[in-house]
Amino acid sequence: MSKVTFYRGQQLPLEMHKVRIIQKLTLLPIEQRLAAMEQAGHNTFLLQNVDVFLDMLTDSGVNAMSQDQQAAMFTADDAYAGSATFTRLHNKVVELFGMPWFLPTHQGRAAENILSRALIRPGTAVPMNYHFTTSKAHVVENGGEVIEMIPPEGLAVTSTNPFKGNFDVPRLRTYLAEHGPEAVSFVRMEAGTNLIGGQPFSLANQREVYAVCREYAIPLVLDASLLADNLYFMKVREAQCAEMSIPEITQAMAEACDILYFSARKLGFGRGGGICIRDEQMYKRMRGLVPLYEGFLTYGGMSVREMEAITVGLDETMDEDMINQGPLFIDYMVTELDRRNIPVITPPGGLGAHLDALRFLDHVPQTKYPAAALASALFVASGVRGMERGTMSEARDASGIEPLAHMELVRLALPRRVFTLSQVNYAIDRIDWLYQQRRLIGGMTWVEEPEILRFFYGRLAPITDWPSQLVSRFRADFGDSL
Ligand code: F0G
Repeated sequence: MSKVTFYRGQQLPLEMHKVRIIQKLTLLPIEQRLAAMEQAGHNTFLLQNVDVFLDMLTDSGVNAMSQDQQAAMFTADDAYAGSATFTRLHNKVVELFGMPWFLPTHQGRAAENILSRALIRPGTAVPMNYHFTTSKAHVVENGGEVIEMIPPEGLAVTSTNPFKGNFDVPRLRTYLAEHGPEAVSFVRMEAGTNLIGGQPFSLANQREVYAVCREYAIPLVLDASLLADNLYFMKVREAQCAEMSIPEITQAMAEACDILYFSARKLGFGRGGGICIRDEQMYKRMRGLVPLYEGFLTYGGMSVREMEAITVGLDETMDEDMINQGPLFIDYMVTELDRRNIPVITPPGGLGAHLDALRFLDHVPQTKYPAAALASALFVASGVRGMERGTMSEARDASGIEPLAHMELVRLALPRRVFTLSQVNYAIDRIDWLYQQRRLIGGMTWVEEPEILRFFYGRLAPITDWPSQLVSRFRADFGDSL
């Protein structure tokens, strides 16, 4: 990793790339931001991007590509079957992960669909360190039950534990001893654990989980969508990885699982996905589902241009100067927010900074969706679009009871190599202001609540007129500033 020390000792992330293509942004006046938020039913997923200043909704499919990725897109070989582009992607995946079989999919959740259909026996469990929304939905859809096995410190919002995404191995052992291997379809481990704040697991932990899985002959499935962040954290936080290269850590992770799948909207900075499989029988079980749901085996719903970009992107993921950009910017943002006593998830993880809405809005009960209220308020205050990751992102059970989320977060994703440090400083400034005005912010209620993945397109309304009060306070404090 390029090590640069500043003369005055500042801890600043230094970009090891330069920006050569830009997109102009607009920052609407606050009154128009409120109107846009109202039109979107206070759901940041329903905002139009032209109304957004800094889009921190996600890092999915919106990371900046390199010139080599863009160049590769021009040389793609367009063919329905047997395209040379697919062969290049296939060979790159085999080279990096060392598994002989690869199935392409149009994105990560499509891989989850195929895995779940092929592997889940109805009535069985799928233990995991933590669920992701789409992975859980597919497990449930196929008659399985998600059992989260995260140690208590994984759910502690503030912590100094470097590997909060670790799997609770003793719990897995106990579960298997009590229920037997036939009660489990597969075990899933998620790198850079998304919903608990982009927190990594250690290589040692993954190896322990794999040892248990092998003992009971249960497949271990690694969700490698956020692999880049997890690789970086293993390298800098885990002693045994310090002397290993990124490709070596990648190989070690791939050796400690049976199946590895990913969203290439995150891993490889493109738009697509795939499943790497060690065992031929397992591959054959899944293979038939690809033409059925995705497309032929040599594109799986991806365009050849995207496959070329992913091939180069995967290679670039092996470069420490590339994968450290996200974690270093996130570290800066979290540290600055924490210094201002603003409640954030610590230690800083990957993916983005995560505001802890339960403490930020400790006067708003969880049944009134504090994370959704905070995401809405932040957009109104700043034009920064975050994402609710709390109770609104949960699903009601069959009897209509709504589980309260373990964590009530607003995620501010930092797509890699997209924002500058001054834009991050702007976001910090407006969050700081909002924190001082937090008593003005109230709760939310449903106006329209869809049954499946309700957070994507459900609509909410504030339970009082708190958004207009926020606008008046903004004008009083900032005058005619945007
Ligand atoms: N697994 C993880 C860990 C993810 O973060 C995602 C997507 C998926 C699977 C599904 O992949 O979107 O390509 O179908 N995460 C996005 C996000 C949606 O915003 O965090 P996909």
